[in-house]
Amino acid sequence: MSLDAMFDKAAANAAPVASITIRRPDDWHVHLRDGTMLNAVLPFTAAQFARGIIMPNLVPPVTTVEAAAAYRDRILAARPQGSDFQPLMTCYLTDMTSPDEIERGHAEGVWVAAKLYPAGATTNAHHGVTNIPALAPVLERMEKIGMPVLIHGESTDPEIDIFDREAAFMEHSLLPLLARHPGLKVVIEHATTAETLDIVRAHATRAAATITPHHLVINRTSIFQGGLQPHLYCLPVAKRERHRLALRKAATSGESCFFIGTDTAPHLRTRKEAECCSAGIFGGATALQTYVQVFDEENALDRFETFASLNGARFYGMAPNSGTITLERRESRVMAAVGVDDSEVVVFRGGVTLPWSIVTS
Ligand code: DOR
Ligand code: ZN
Repeated sequence: MSLDAMFDKAAANAAPVASITIRRPDDWHVHLRDGTMLNAVLPFTAAQFARGIIMPNLVPPVTTVEAAAAYRDRILAARPQGSDFQPLMTCYLTDMTSPDEIERGHAEGVWVAAKLYPAGATTNAHHGVTNIPALAPVLERMEKIGMPVLIHGESTDPEIDIFDREAAFMEHSLLPLLARHPGLKVVIEHATTAETLDIVRAHATRAAATITPHHLVINRTSIFQGGLQPHLYCLPVAKRERHRLALRKAATSGESCFFIGTDTAPHLRTRKEAECCSAGIFGGATALQTYVQVFDEENALDRFETFASLNGARFYGMAPNSGTITLERRESRVMAAVGVDDSEVVVFRGGVTLPWSIVTS
């Protein structure tokens, strides 16, 4: 036996057959879209997560209680047979949002939170907020009723370098907002920089951040590696390696202010491989496999349940889910793409061998 083969054998013998069973997790940031796309992508999220915070950036955006309730019904109707997936709805904030509409939707149990997109910051954000300080009456009402605001934290100033837009937003918009509304619960969605994570930590009594699977495994170089990779383009765009490492540290730290938000954002292949590529990564089908791999690589599997299933529920004031899901260190492969209409949606990390698998009972 060669020396290499001996080492391989020793390693194989040493490696325990690992599996991990955690309470069913939630996805606190998911784009399910509507119509045929909803039908195509929902089964993947529903197979991995018990609940999901549903993003409201449809066309037209979900700005009324009635529209949100109707969208919730469409999601419930699109669930695969036997699924108990629970959609948690959000209100798309605009310059016209009324504090009374916010309070009514919250009181009626339709809205769990409201989403603040700076106008034009990302996909279908052109109806978003143009003047954040002017949103004060809405945010004051949310503060009063304990309803969280979920923030896409990027500056929309075209003069600002795209890799600096999150930092600029934090400095010029988020910190003043936190100071103006000291009791407001705030989630910084899809955090991508080390500095953002520190701001969240400093306000952790009422602030939190979601962390996506893709920002844990790609950096900005990945987008250009071997040619331009449209399926790795999302907003906020992936940053330098030091930020990816900070995100991995935060996610696996056990700190209660960090939790799952996949930002799974499907676009048709034809919209990604286009003259103008839409922002968004469809990570919903491989989310848990990616997260658990990161926790394994960081020797933090003992903190995986905290990040995946406990921190978010606590922040939102909800009970953790009953039931469990098991993942095991066994190689598997998820399909490369999911068919939708005449096109398909490319799956993030689809078609490649992943070291971890979901155990299906
Ligand atoms: O990359 C993104 N895609 N970022 C967002 O904020 C929105 C999302 C989408 O809806 O496609
Ligand atoms: Zn999103």
